[in-house]
Amino acid sequence: MRKFVYIETYGCQMNEHDSERILRVLEGVHYLETKEAQQADLILVNTCSVREKPEQKVYSALGRFKRLKEEKGTILGVTGCVAQQEGEKLLDRIPYLDMVAGTQAIPLIPQMLKRMKVTGEKVCETGFDEKGTYLKTPLPSGSLPQVKSFVTIMQGCDHFCSYCIVPYVRGREKSRPSAEILDEVRHLAERGVKEVCLLGQNVNGYGKGLVGEMIFPELLRAINGVEGIERIRFTTSHPADLSQGLIRAFSELGKLCEHIHLPFQSGSNRILKAMHRGYARESYLEKIDRLKEVCSSIAITADVMVGFPGEEEEDFHQTLDLMKRIEFDDLFSFKYSMRKGTRAAQFDDQVEEKVKQERLAILQGIQKGLTLKKNRGFEGRTEEILVEGRSKQSDRDMTGRTRTNKIVNFKGDLNLAGRRIPLRITDGYAHSLRGEMLSSDEKARAGGIERRSHDSIGTDLHEFSPPAPGET
Ligand code: 5AD
Ligand code: SF4
Repeated sequence: MRKFVYIETYGCQMNEHDSERILRVLEGVHYLETKEAQQADLILVNTCSVREKPEQKVYSALGRFKRLKEEKGTILGVTGCVAQQEGEKLLDRIPYLDMVAGTQAIPLIPQMLKRMKVTGEKVCETGFDEKGTYLKTPLPSGSLPQVKSFVTIMQGCDHFCSYCIVPYVRGREKSRPSAEILDEVRHLAERGVKEVCLLGQNVNGYGKGLVGEMIFPELLRAINGVEGIERIRFTTSHPADLSQGLIRAFSELGKLCEHIHLPFQSGSNRILKAMHRGYARESYLEKIDRLKEVCSSIAITADVMVGFPGEEEEDFHQTLDLMKRIEFDDLFSFKYSMRKGTRAAQFDDQVEEKVKQERLAILQGIQKGLTLKKNRGFEGRTEEILVEGRSKQSDRDMTGRTRTNKIVNFKGDLNLAGRRIPLRITDGYAHSLRGEMLSSDEKARAGGIERRSHDSIGTDLHEFSPPAPGET
């Protein structure tokens, strides 16, 4: 008999994709996804513990579902990083919770549900699986409505930055065999997916620990050869592990989009050292220069933190200085949040909340101006857009992204979804661009992207390089 599962997801793209993987696993035991918690037989809250705020949201979400549990007997479970971190303690703390499945327990969820049914007892799985079988993902079935898809290539992290909980809740770096990844990418391509985003906490570490396995640039090259896939992205990269081979891939692989997310966290060498980041601001700047050398149109985004223990005004100014030098396309900025069990939680020079708040506001104000400047710089250019579907903001608009990962909204038909088309950018806003379709003559001059969109493309997309900034 069919049952319904509702998943609420917090945190990063890895968590979003883990929710998709949970759905695929549950599909095998006849659960269908519902978007209505009221309709569900099983509610899962997929959690994040990287900072305090997302962790707190979990407890309020569970509170909201308590009534459904009482009224309908809905099974209530927690998955993800908070589940891994708290384990059995969550079951004690939240008496109406039935199930806790840690970050490496996704394939075990069907067995856990069965065990619960047979024994009538609550279940908890938070073991680490050294073999990495938790990375195996059932392939999605049937035709897929989406144009782009995530593909997990590795999980975990060996870096142990002093502020970060990830190595403790995700475990050490573990890679999936490339044959399995390539199978999944081919399967997605056959079902209409045009863009894949390769996921891992440190994708540059791909292949570590697997004998005779490819390294990351080789994996990218292999995926570049998969027929039907038109665009490739990846996230996240660690600056210390960003190899020359990967930098070169941006000029060599036609499907690899011109965007890199490269968290720098701080612009101060003193703070980077205390964070245990393993690079200095100078080497970060050098790598950015090298990326721009091989790919002048590359968009660069990053994560940054303010208020790390011991951060003085001077350190903060070094961060602002690095931001202004690089002019990131966008930044994800956070106040340092103390995480139990990490080394930085023991540091005694914690920064006052008020100071963190002020620094974050200053930093975000500056970045807002820089992002807007970048986006306005696109006005008048012609950009290749992969159309994703209807815009969530307006029924009359379609939406897609440039190769540099900028959202572009434009007036167009639904049947454009899944196609790469040239658009003239008319407006650059704070968070997106506005574009318009070209006339047939203009399209021909733009390089015939539409014509090529269903062909197997190689490196030829670079023929369609956008004009340099300033040129219109
Ligand atoms: N406090 C604040 N931000 C953090 N991040 C990771 N750990 C913490 C923490 N303890 C941020 C980093 C990382 C992003 C995913 O989250 O910037 O790159
Ligand atoms: Fe956390 Fe550092 Fe690993 Fe990133 S590289 S996941 S910040 S420990």
